[in-house]
Amino acid sequence: MATRPDPAISGQALATPAVQEMQRDSFANPAMFWLDRGQALFARRSGTAAKSCADCHGSRGLDGVATAFPKVVDGDLRNLEAQINACRTLRMGASALPLESEELLSLTVAVREQSSGQPVAVAVDGPAAPHFQQGRALYTERRGQMNLACFQCHDERVGLWLRGEQLTQGQTNGMPGYLLRWGAVGSVHRRLQFCDDQRLAEPRALGSDAYLALELYTAWRGNGLPVEALAVRR
Ligand code: HEC
Ligand code: HEC
Repeated sequence: MATRPDPAISGQALATPAVQEMQRDSFANPAMFWLDRGQALFARRSGTAAKSCADCHGSRGLDGVATAFPKVVDGDLRNLEAQINACRTLRMGASALPLESEELLSLTVAVREQSSGQPVAVAVDGPAAPHFQQGRALYTERRGQMNLACFQCHDERVGLWLRGEQLTQGQTNGMPGYLLRWGAVGSVHRRLQFCDDQRLAEPRALGSDAYLALELYTAWRGNGLPVEALAVRR
């Protein structure tokens, strides 16, 4: 059954040497474009308040902050994308950026980069506890035409091959991350849609409560792993 993996292993460790090298080499790493764009957006004023992220948070003032997301803020479980959109709508008088848009993912990469290498440390007690329990239930639930639960691939089959891919622990310390198959940075939720697809289950909506709860649960499984802000995966 699903437990916390010991030790936790980043997906990077099971990537091919070529993909590992691409992640390490800042000239080759395709996520660098997203970081550059995210840093530019971070400094750009927008909305009716004519403020930039940097006006309130300083150019690197969010040091370590990403390690604690998802977390409960004002009664809601927020991932980093939701927090960024909350700042845009509530503090900047700007519109929420569409989920999975280049702008939102680039900003997310720029915020995560300020925690690069720091250990993931999400809280699952207090107000987060019900979301954590929901996430655990979803993680162990069999679903789809293959009748598979997350743990059957990401705990029981780690290191085995599935359709040309070596199964990892399904860690999220490198997410959002650059997926070569997508030619783009993708969020945790887009990845979960991919996994639902792998088990022939109906994907859930980006930003759904179920995916947020799973995002918290998977982050907890990897508590202590270093944040990889510029991860590259197949
Ligand atoms: C007008 C000021 C203001 C602007 C502009 C602003 N924020 Fe915030 N932000 C806040 C406040 C206030 C909080 C909540 C209190 C806190 O944790 O500092 C916050 C919280 C956050 C957090 C969570 C901090 C934590 O410790 O958990 C992140 C991440 C964040 N903002 C990112 C952004 C990004 C990215 C932008 C630009 C899109 C932005 N903010 C724009 C004021 C602002
Ligand atoms: C049929 C097997 C299968 C099931 C079931 C499955 N996944 Fe995956 N998942 C994959 C494959 C294949 C990949 C890509 C290779 C890898 O990282 O394991 C992947 C990748 C991931 C990743 C990205 C890891 C990284 O380092 O980039 C996460 C996170 C993830 N899965 C979470 C989940 C969660 C949560 C569930 C249950 C909702 C789930 N998966 C169910 C097959 C599966």
